[in-house]
Amino acid sequence: MKRILITGGAGFIGSNLCDYFISKGNQVTCLDNFATGFRYNIEHLLSHPDFKLIEGDIRDLATCQQAAADQDYVLHQAALGSVPRSINDPITSNDVNVGGFLNMLVAARDSGVKRFIYAASSSTYGDSETLPKVEEVIGKPLSPYAITKYVNELYADVFSKTYGIECIGLRYFNVFGRRQHPNGAYAAVIPKFVIQLMNHESPVINGTGEYSRDFTYIDNVIQMNEKAMSAENKEALNTVYNTAVGDRTTLNLLVEYLKEYLSVYDPAIANVPIIHGDLRAGDIPHSLASIDKAKKLLGYEPSHDIKKGLQEAVGWYWENLK
Ligand SMILES: NC(=O)c1ccc[n+]([C@@H]2O[C@H](COP(=O)([O-])OP(=O)(O)OC[C@H]3O[C@@H](n4cnc5c(N)ncnc54)[C@H](O)[C@@H]3O)[C@@H](O)[C@H]2O)c1
Repeated sequence: MKRILITGGAGFIGSNLCDYFISKGNQVTCLDNFATGFRYNIEHLLSHPDFKLIEGDIRDLATCQQAAADQDYVLHQAALGSVPRSINDPITSNDVNVGGFLNMLVAARDSGVKRFIYAASSSTYGDSETLPKVEEVIGKPLSPYAITKYVNELYADVFSKTYGIECIGLRYFNVFGRRQHPNGAYAAVIPKFVIQLMNHESPVINGTGEYSRDFTYIDNVIQMNEKAMSAENKEALNTVYNTAVGDRTTLNLLVEYLKEYLSVYDPAIANVPIIHGDLRAGDIPHSLASIDKAKKLLGYEPSHDIKKGLQEAVGWYWENLK
């Protein structure tokens, strides 16, 4: 049994991590201020004897220290996601994603946790046109959000060298799956399109739809967190890993898949027309990960390609949000 602190544990990725690590018999503490997460994501865990919720803000060092005390591992997910959010309000994104991150690192260092594993981001590749993306070749950030996520990597690197704390960064690539929130200005594309199609509303694709992404199902992300926790080889530590599938799908094809899988539940969805809108600031044209490093050093093997992941996700949305 491990003691695991999951920050941002009421969010999409964090609540899935909470579920998984509780199901494996661990003690899980969730630290969240519900800025973008939801109590209903963890409601079912609140009465579990091995689950504890700390409602608090990572911008407060004392809260981070309280949460990190007596933990074996920190899985740091708390942050303000979304490139457009960071463009609209760079100061708050920086306060949470950089200031809060530093607080958590300091708290983890001081409490002597075994390992600090954190949510990094594919946005760190910025304007690099290299495909596939390999961990060692990055470009210049294209948004305030991307800066914050890159600064996280720099801090983790310096903390591991200076204080000897073991850190692993997981550069998540467009994660999707159960519980990802479909509504609001900063919703991710897959849940937003799913809900629109379920309601027979036309999804709006930014640009021609030929931009592509390495869409990554949540179960692959859970696996990467678990592999990062259990890695013993020194070479595998104090570094970052692409957390992806190693395949890319255009937005046009994505919508085709969604229509196909949703039509199983409601055949009329196959006829919902698509609208094309303007390109969004800060978006990179293509994103495709090399997952060789994660395979080699962590023994990672994605369990879900995009099609399998989308089928499961669509089933979940139909069952839970229709
Ligand atoms: N979803 C993706 O595709 C993706 C891609 C790359 C990186 N990431 C990173 O993964 C992590 C989780 O993302 P997600 O998609 O689950 O987003 P999410 O918004 O669902 O989860 C983030 C959680 O952090 C919490 N939080 C925010 N500010 C906080 C604060 N000041 N104090 C305490 N808690 C706070 C929120 O309430 C929320 O529960 C984030 O660090 C994000 O940057 C996500």
